[in-house]
Amino acid sequence: MTNPVEAWHIDHSYFSRLLALLRKELDAFHSGGEPNLELMLDIISYLRDYSDDMHHPREDIAFACMARRCPDLALVLARLAQEHRVIAQAGEKLRSLLNAVQNDTVVSRGEIEIAAATYLVYYGNHIAKEEEDVLPRAAEALTAEDWEAVSKAVPHRHDPVFGGDGDERYRVLRRHIALEA
Ligand SMILES: [Fe+2]
Ligand SMILES: [Fe+2]
Repeated sequence: MTNPVEAWHIDHSYFSRLLALLRKELDAFHSGGEPNLELMLDIISYLRDYSDDMHHPREDIAFACMARRCPDLALVLARLAQEHRVIAQAGEKLRSLLNAVQNDTVVSRGEIEIAAATYLVYYGNHIAKEEEDVLPRAAEALTAEDWEAVSKAVPHRHDPVFGGDGDERYRVLRRHIALEA
């Protein structure tokens, strides 16, 4: 079985790959090209449905355990937990704008660019902070009971994009990821 910090890091590497793909579409958008809306929506839907509903609730439990064991990190952990709520809200905002475009509602390019760029920067910094300040300390500080609590934070769900037999729903996204590899 993969050790929990390694699994945590692997999740981050998956999310970073998706953020990089989203960045590419945003760049196309910015230079006046036609972004792949379906791909952008798939990325944001995966991050909303898997990361926000699986990864972040687990981290919230890990952070609570760490705050008890590493009081010097309490403020950093509280901010990161707060950022989970901001990321969820910023993701939903971006998803609704992209949905509106797909449904032929007039949305300004500027509004989508700002929402996407905000999401990318915020999420990228969030992951970098966790990788730098939290994961190395978690590896030292969390106990077997803590990890047990983390794994039980939410019912396990199959990763529909990176989890082996990917979900048909994310066929297009998985094809793009394979091309990037
Ligand atoms: Fe997080
Ligand atoms: Fe994370």
